[in-house]
Amino acid sequence: MTKFFANLHMVLAAGVLLAIVVMFGAHADMVTANAVFRWLHLFFGVTWIGLLYYFNFVQIPTMPKIPAELKPAVGKHIAPAALFFFRWGAAFTVLTGLIVAHLSGYLVQALTFSDPNFKLIGIGMWLALIMAFNVWFVIWPAQKRALGIVEADDATKAAAATRAMIFSRTNTLLSLAMFYCMVNANNG
Ligand code: HEM
Repeated sequence: MTKFFANLHMVLAAGVLLAIVVMFGAHADMVTANAVFRWLHLFFGVTWIGLLYYFNFVQIPTMPKIPAELKPAVGKHIAPAALFFFRWGAAFTVLTGLIVAHLSGYLVQALTFSDPNFKLIGIGMWLALIMAFNVWFVIWPAQKRALGIVEADDATKAAAATRAMIFSRTNTLLSLAMFYCMVNANNG
């Protein structure tokens, strides 16, 4: 039992298996590509936003309280691993979200606001696209400097850390409206 739970890949494989049992056991007539991509979309979205909230609720506020000699444990080990799943979670959330919109037949109408029925999901998609842009083109490059993954002097590092914090906080701000749009696009 301990061996099973100690192996993350085994646990994830079991989770996928259980999901497949539920899909075909309780939802068999409706297991379309759209349903599967909605499910994957949520998995990647939770991975992404879960880590965004970890940075904002846990890591950023706790860092100043950590003794200097322990800070490298976070900066050199925890943060780079969290940033890996964070940025790839964002990329796959975008990809699966765009696929869901395409399979639902409203990708262009939603993104161009040309049909009022898809206004809410259009707003949600644009909010999430801005957030994903911030992850890949602002937060990640800034974090690479702040964490010393690419060379930078101390002043550049400090400026990069501030920039990453501001854009990370911006994404936290945007996430609440984005969630409203995502979960209510299909609700009436
Ligand atoms: C650029 C990124 C994103 C795009 C393009 C996108 C796109 C979509 C689309 C097209 C839908 C289907 C709406 C419908 O017709 O019911 C949807 C639903 C949803 N999305 Fe996103 N989304 C993005 C980001 C996120 C993020 C970050 C989350 C966070 C967890 C999220 C969570 C959800 C949820 C919970 C649903 C509801 C599924 C349902 O009720 O059918 N999305 N998204």
